[in-house]
Amino acid sequence: MSNANPLMPQMATILDIIAETPEIKTLRVSGKDGLPFDFMPGQCAMLSVLPVGEAIFSITSSPTCRDCLEFSIKKTGKVSNSLHSLEPGQQIGIRGPYGNGFPVEEMKGKDLLFIGGGIGLAPLRSLIGYCFANRDHYGQIDIVYGARSPADMIRKSEVKETWAGQPNTKVHLTVDAEFPDWKGHVGFVPTYVTELAFTPENKVAITCGPPIMIKFVLQALDKLGFAPEQVITTLEMRMKCGVGKCGRCNLGPVYVCKDGPVFSLAELNELPGEY
Ligand SMILES: Cc1cc2nc3c(=O)[nH]c(=O)nc-3n(C[C@H](O)[C@H](O)[C@H](O)COP(=O)(O)OP(=O)(O)OC[C@H]3O[C@@H](n4cnc5c(N)ncnc54)[C@H](O)[C@@H]3O)c2cc1C
Ligand code: FES
Repeated sequence: MSNANPLMPQMATILDIIAETPEIKTLRVSGKDGLPFDFMPGQCAMLSVLPVGEAIFSITSSPTCRDCLEFSIKKTGKVSNSLHSLEPGQQIGIRGPYGNGFPVEEMKGKDLLFIGGGIGLAPLRSLIGYCFANRDHYGQIDIVYGARSPADMIRKSEVKETWAGQPNTKVHLTVDAEFPDWKGHVGFVPTYVTELAFTPENKVAITCGPPIMIKFVLQALDKLGFAPEQVITTLEMRMKCGVGKCGRCNLGPVYVCKDGPVFSLAELNELPGEY
């Protein structure tokens, strides 16, 4: 494994592609000698397709998985469209890892509440896999995951079977509206969090999803009595260099690519502007 120069793309081979939803595919990629680099949950990598360009994506596999890196990629533009058009065996460029990752040491001994929406499950999945691999370090785990429809949920069998079957773990799924094939909860994620009435004692809440979901989840957690220090989120800003050089992603003095993308709500409350 080489962690030589995070600015220098390496070539990686696509081992497998999983079609998650009509808009999202998970790519499993490997470097020449296994994992291209070591990383921690919450970190990201720049993926490139020649001559199209490059874009940043969360590493969704757990660092405890040593076979490959996984990325769940939503079709939104140039690079993600071309990543969707690739086949197993083809090569892409990869550089990283970038960002700070989740505070896994500070979270030890706490109960964990994961709150994800849509593709926002991608960075949470890396952390959830890490916590299951180090199960004794963490208390009760609750996972709230929502999507627009059952068809928009990613990693369905892993979430419903593998995660729900872990010790001391509860999975709470919801979709935005009624669907004929859906027998579970119906309603938006923030409302469901309120209904589930989580208590804040000895708990850390980690949330990722569309900005509108995060905004209302933060309000719901506040009403449930969570302090800003107990709430962690991961931001998606426009990025270019990924290493704090181009100034594309700053919030006041903070570069989301380098100082984030993971922040506690207490840290975000200190920053200027919209995020
Ligand atoms: C830390 C981090 C982690 C991320 N993790 C993931 C992940 O795990 N999975 C995932 O699918 N995505 C993830 N993203 C988002 C992803 O990086 C972006 O969607 C990226 O823009 C995709 O590149 P693209 O070339 O496919 O799309 P682009 O061509 O960049 O277009 C993306 C969207 O932005 C719009 N757009 C393009 N240029 C501009 C502009 N100048 N101003 C305003 N809007 C513009 C386009 O119309 C389109 O709607 C992450 C982003 C960050 C910052
Ligand atoms: S992306 Fe260049 S400074 Fe953050």
